[in-house]
Amino acid sequence: MTITRDIESLLARRSAGVLEEPAPTGADLDLILDAGLRAPDHGRLRPWRFVLIRGEARAAFGECLTEAAMARNPETGASLGARYRGWVARTPLLIGVGAEIRTGHAIPVIEQLMAAGAAAMNMLNAIHLLGYGGMWVTGANTYDARVNETLGFHAPSRLVGLLAVGTAREAQPIERPSREAHTVEWTGQA
Ligand SMILES: Cc1cc2nc3c(=O)[nH]c(=O)nc-3n(C[C@H](O)[C@H](O)[C@H](O)COP(=O)(O)O)c2cc1C
Repeated sequence: MTITRDIESLLARRSAGVLEEPAPTGADLDLILDAGLRAPDHGRLRPWRFVLIRGEARAAFGECLTEAAMARNPETGASLGARYRGWVARTPLLIGVGAEIRTGHAIPVIEQLMAAGAAAMNMLNAIHLLGYGGMWVTGANTYDARVNETLGFHAPSRLVGLLAVGTAREAQPIERPSREAHTVEWTGQA
């Protein structure tokens, strides 16, 4: 078996919690979005939707996250909002990844959501292969109706996460779980 450089690069992907400029733009960003659009999709529904949040728009998104946190819990919302605003301001590019959901369709909703998740993963791999850093983040914001509406996801359509994107400030050690802990050979018996 030949281990290609491609697979080595894929195995070296890691999430980057601390990001700095530059974020991908132009042809690099196009490749990342194209990778998202190469995700598997049952029924060719093309449910993937990507929302780019960068530059000046980040301040407004930080405000949105703060308002949402305040509405969820007025006691903790202000301090949480300050943290969110700082995080958004420090993150060179955010990509809201979501699914435009069709209900009552032969393709179950979970498969439409998984297609959006697969797009997020393909984009994370592309971000890494192009030499940038990224991290998939959810938390309460991803499931908050106000945040979803602000980014154009009207129920049942919804976000599956935010990709924080930029350049990784420091190399994180790669954690690789053991294959044995996660894999069994099914021998034909229940
Ligand atoms: C659907 C999903 C949501 C996640 N949400 C968060 C999050 O909100 N905050 C966080 O710190 N990590 C979150 N993570 C985990 C990180 O994206 C990352 O996978 C983790 O830090 C491990 O790093 P690694 O990808 O290098 O193994 C999430 C991962 C997935 C798949």
